[in-house]
Amino acid sequence: MTEKTRIDVPFRPVFPSPAGLIVSADENKKPNIMTAGEVFNIGLKNPCIIGIALRKATYTHGLISRTREFTVNLPSRAILEKMDLVGTVSGRDGRDKFAEAGLTPIPSVTVIPPIIEECPVNLECKCLSITEVGDHDLFLGEVLYMRADADKVGERQRLLIDKMDSFLYAEWEYYEIGKKLGNFGFSRGKDGRLR
Ligand SMILES: Cc1cc2nc3c(=O)[nH]c(=O)nc-3n(C[C@H](O)[C@H](O)[C@H](O)COP(=O)(O)O)c2cc1C
Repeated sequence: MTEKTRIDVPFRPVFPSPAGLIVSADENKKPNIMTAGEVFNIGLKNPCIIGIALRKATYTHGLISRTREFTVNLPSRAILEKMDLVGTVSGRDGRDKFAEAGLTPIPSVTVIPPIIEECPVNLECKCLSITEVGDHDLFLGEVLYMRADADKVGERQRLLIDKMDSFLYAEWEYYEIGKKLGNFGFSRGKDGRLR
């Protein structure tokens, strides 16, 4: 039998999780970026709803609470260091994290906060709700508009994951994503895509 060790204080126990860059904006439309390790799919389609979990201490928490808009931008390995940087300093004191990290804002179509050019996947979100949960608050966002780098989108608009050069975050560490292992439903000998 496999020996199991009790983990006394569970901390961020679900892994791997993608890290995303969250962009919000103040009342003067000045954008701010922060890194979020918790970015998850909740409602898959029509409407597509995602979740992020933010501490009240972040500047972003206050901005989204007031403006009810944000964008989620999924980074590639090419900007790993920039993503780490914007997740370790706050924009609260007026610093411009776009300039500091050398990231490029592109106007969104449906919301004020811009998307980030260097990120291959960009989601424009309307904040549906904010729920106090524990040490983080849960923000649900409806994806109003989604864009992805054209060379990373395949047939039937599926994202070409192997071209994303994505990475994962767990236990304070960043990891590469490995090779594809199979398709949904492969155990039943069929392509189980639900779309
Ligand atoms: C990889 C990584 C993941 C993070 N995940 C979260 C998260 O899910 N929620 C959160 O509140 N802060 C998270 N942070 C910390 C914030 O990004 C950090 O506090 C940031 O400075 C907040 O910026 P702001 O004050 O400009 O909003 C993470 C940081 C890193 C580097």
